[in-house]
This record gives sequence, C-alpha cells and structure tokens, in this order.
Amino acid sequence: MLQERAPNFAKMVEADRVRKEVYTDAQIFEREMERIHETVWIYCGHESQVPRAGDYCTVQIGRQPMIMVRGKSGKVNVLYNRCPHRGNMICGDREGNTGEQFRCSYHAWTFQLDGRLKNIPMKSAYEGTRYQAKGGKDNPDCSMKKAARVENYRGFVFASLASDGPSLKNFLGKSIVAFDDMCDRAPAGEVEVVPNCFRVIQHSNWKLFLENQLDALHPSVVHQSTGRAAHEVEKILAKKARGGAAPLSYHMLSAFATVTIDKWDDFQTINYPYGHCILTGYMGLRPQDPDTLAYDKVMIKAYGKKRFEQIVGVNIHHVLVYPGLSVQSPLQQLRAVRPLGVDRTLTEIWHFRLKGAPEAIYRRSLAYYNLVNSPATLINADDLENFWKCHQGLSSDGGDWVSLARHHGRDIEKDGVVSSGPKMGTSEAPMRNQMKAWAKFMQA
Ligand code: FES
Ligand SMILES: [Fe+2]
Repeated sequence: MLQERAPNFAKMVEADRVRKEVYTDAQIFEREMERIHETVWIYCGHESQVPRAGDYCTVQIGRQPMIMVRGKSGKVNVLYNRCPHRGNMICGDREGNTGEQFRCSYHAWTFQLDGRLKNIPMKSAYEGTRYQAKGGKDNPDCSMKKAARVENYRGFVFASLASDGPSLKNFLGKSIVAFDDMCDRAPAGEVEVVPNCFRVIQHSNWKLFLENQLDALHPSVVHQSTGRAAHEVEKILAKKARGGAAPLSYHMLSAFATVTIDKWDDFQTINYPYGHCILTGYMGLRPQDPDTLAYDKVMIKAYGKKRFEQIVGVNIHHVLVYPGLSVQSPLQQLRAVRPLGVDRTLTEIWHFRLKGAPEAIYRRSLAYYNLVNSPATLINADDLENFWKCHQGLSSDGGDWVSLARHHGRDIEKDGVVSSGPKMGTSEAPMRNQMKAWAKFMQA
C-alpha cells in the first residue's frame, strides 16, 4: 500500500541556507499552520480592544477564525467563530458588542459569552439526540468551542489552540521584554490600544515579512531614497531653527539614510529559543525638547529617578516574537502577522497610548506609526515591493536555495542563546534562528 511520505523538513533547512519550497509550497504551508500557528501562543489582541462585557473582535489564528470577547465576569475569552449547529460563523463583523449573548443568525441558537449554550429554540425536537441541552448547558456538542488555552500578559491576550505546551511566559522567554518595555514606559504601568489598525495584505509568504523585521542590512539600501529626502528637509528646517533641531518626525525618516550599514553593524541581535529575537539599539529618542522633559517629570514622579533611568535606558529597537509579532516597544508599535495562504499574508499594524503620559508623547508614537509603519508611507511600500519580488523570484526555477550565510560561523552561543558577533549587527543570525525554530516545530 502506498503511504504518503512526509517531507523531510530537517533536510530543507541547513545551517546557512534554506530550500525555496519552504516559502512557496502550499502543502508545507498547511503543515506550518497545523504545527506552528495552530499550536504555539499567538497574539489575539489587547484587552483594551474589548473594554466592556459583550465587546468582541474577530481574529485569525492559523486557519481558524476566532472571536476574542469580554465575558460577564470581566475575563477575556477566545472562542472559535463557529456555531455548533450547522457551522455558521457567529460573528461576521470585525468587531462590535454582542450584548449578553451570542445569537447565531441562521437558526437562533444562543450562547453565553464564554461559548456555553444558552438556548436552542424549540429544543424538544432534540430530545434523545446528542444535541439535547438537557443535563446542563455545558454539552460540548451544543457549545461554541473554546481556544485550548488563553493567557493575558500585561493586557496582551494570547491563545494557543493546543492543550499541551509551554506556558505563555515560558514560551515568550526573554522576548517578554517587548511587553514590559512598552508598559513600563507608561507612568500608569499599562498601555491602551488606539482603536482601528492599518491592515495590509502582502502578496508573499509570511516568513518573508518576519525575516525582514530584524534584517539590519536592508534599511540603508531599501529605504535610502526616502531617508535622503527626509534628511535634506531636516537640514533646511534645522537651519531655520537657528541652532535648534527639526521636528523629531524628520529624524524618524532620515535615520534610514544617516544610519549607514557600518552603524547598523554596531547594534546586536540576540536570538532565543522558539525563534524569538531582539535587535538592540536605541533610535536616540531622548531629546531634551520640552515634550520629552515634561514626560520625564511625570515618569520620575511615578517611578522615582533610579527606576525611571532603568526604564528609559532599555536598549531595544525591535523584538520579534515568533511566529507572529513584530514589536517596537520604545515607540509603542506592534505588527501582527496572519498568514492567509502560502503567498498571501495579512499584517495588522497597531499602536498604543502610554497611560498617564502627556499627549505629545502619543503624537510621537502616532507620527512613527504614520511615517514608518502605515501603508501610506514610502518605507512600508519599499518593503512590500521587495517581499513581493522575493516571492516571485523564489517561485521561479532560477535556484533552489535561499542564502542565510551572512556572518555564519561567527555567532556567539551561550546557554541556548545565540548573539551576533561584535560589529556584526547585520548578521543573518535572526533568520537562521527563525529557521532553526521552524524546522524543530515542523518535525515535532
Ligand atoms: S447554524 Fe447556527 S443556529 Fe443553525
Ligand atoms: Fe524595511
């Protein structure tokens, strides 16, 4: 009897290169969804997206449409967006308030906010069947299925669709700093989502986006023209300000030209188990302008001078939480990756307010959101073009391998943590680390 042979994933990933099919093969994509996205902890959303009981938003985990909903007790639940009767999707909208219950729009079965059955109209018709509601409303055949595990870390809600596996904290490991850094920078110790995010559908594989996040080699090439143009204007404005500085928003763009490859090499990537990674380096966001000084004052009042210095001294540019999050904590930005198909990827681009911080600090975050991460900026467009071109090239017969060899063999490994070597910030260590994790998940 012929047996379906599972691809040998270990052979697809070598220490310094990866087979192109990893990015283009639809069967491999299905396996990734099963073994990775529908198994590990995936970010659903921030609890401030659902402040009141009945508030919900819909979210994709792997191939599964899910609902994140605030229950009556205040707990945030994550449920499959599917009616147990004939399979209808319960929530068709992206977000809203469902009141005290979910009501299926097809035959009016109703459910509690934690997914348990509330009522089946004319239920006597089900007596003696497995669908009888008798004996409790907990009958799983009549209830909306829950995500196997849900955990909330400092307001960031994650779900895992597998009942076994590490706890959220163990899974995140050191990458948890993304959420600590973001929240600690708020005088009130927490952040609040700014409703509505930008959504972009990329015509490329989800891993191309993630690999690009800590690719310190590309910005001074891909974003050079945008950076140069901003730098020209920045210089004119600084001149006009007679010794003063141009608004910080120009620096957010000009840095793409002024931070050259050798400067990027001064940064470091630190790579952790499960594919997570941190890029160190601060964008110089501690200018001595009145807005920053006012913020410093509020923070010192909230935390004391010593703790304040620790908080604002955290040296992070970017944290990648594999396989679905890219966080820029000092600027309160977060991008969530939702694979839709082998060559289609949704990214959600969110930003947050620091609770208790002056409005001007929020405007700074908003400026970065609009100038660097939004679909309207040239920065994002530059990246998208390259993701698409990468996917097109990888789909061709022009070669079988993707090279991840930059500074290979020069990484520093200690206790399972791999750091790029000194003056090697543009190393492809983060991509090697992601693929190492990928192969491990896929073989599991
Ligand atoms: S499909 Fe939901 S009540 Fe029938
Ligand atoms: Fe980029």
